[in-house]
Amino acid sequence: MASANDTRQAPKDAADQNFDYMFKLLIIGNSSVGKTSFLFRYADDSFTSAFVSTVGIDFKVKTVYRNEKRVKLQIWDTAGQERYRTITTAYYRGAMGFLLMYDISNQESFSAVQDWATQIKTYSWDNAQVILVGNKCDLEDDRIVPTEDGKRLADELGFEFFEASAKDNINVKQVFERLVDIICEKMNESLDPSPGTTSNNHKNTALNETPTAQSNSCSC
Ligand code: GTP
Ligand code: MG
Repeated sequence: MASANDTRQAPKDAADQNFDYMFKLLIIGNSSVGKTSFLFRYADDSFTSAFVSTVGIDFKVKTVYRNEKRVKLQIWDTAGQERYRTITTAYYRGAMGFLLMYDISNQESFSAVQDWATQIKTYSWDNAQVILVGNKCDLEDDRIVPTEDGKRLADELGFEFFEASAKDNINVKQVFERLVDIICEKMNESLDPSPGTTSNNHKNTALNETPTAQSNSCSC
């Protein structure tokens, strides 16, 4: 995947201006919970069992149709490792939605959810929508975090909740579609233009972190 600083030419789809809205989304959570795998499954329908930890931040672009609107998603995949925290939190600004991910077979990743939620509160727009995702639900035999615990924590934090598997392609598309829908619902509630939303009609350029180069593997 191309890095945000990559100067390679943007592929046609990523540069495509034919959309009604652009939403900036971020995937966050501890290292190895499956953030990159989740994005690859969604954008490219691919999965690899090799673990290549993300360095800094990366992104992909995907365009979806929801409610008769063409919505271009700019999905940022952040590094979970602590040493990249300063870089990654800089990208929270202007994000409309977050996937906060943990691994159902890893207690530490679940215990860290509260801290990630605090990071969202600290660095992002107040109305950013969040879905808590318990990934790797294919690993039922290794499950440490009961579904009920995930649900309860999501309720406490005011987030929606899904269990999913990037490996077995369970709930991946559904999670992204739900996030788009709740962002749209929030937008409809408010007449004010929202930070991080770019309406193509009005050329509202609130999306300050618009990349100069796009991922190689865009699948619009
Ligand atoms: P960082 O980039 O370090 O923050 O990690 P990450 O959250 O991006 O994790 P990554 O997607 O690289 O996945 C880590 C490991 O978990 C890899 O070996 C993946 O193959 C594996 N993995 C990811 N998703 C799943 C899943 O749904 N089920 C199973 N069984 N393994 C998964
Ligand atoms: Mg990664």
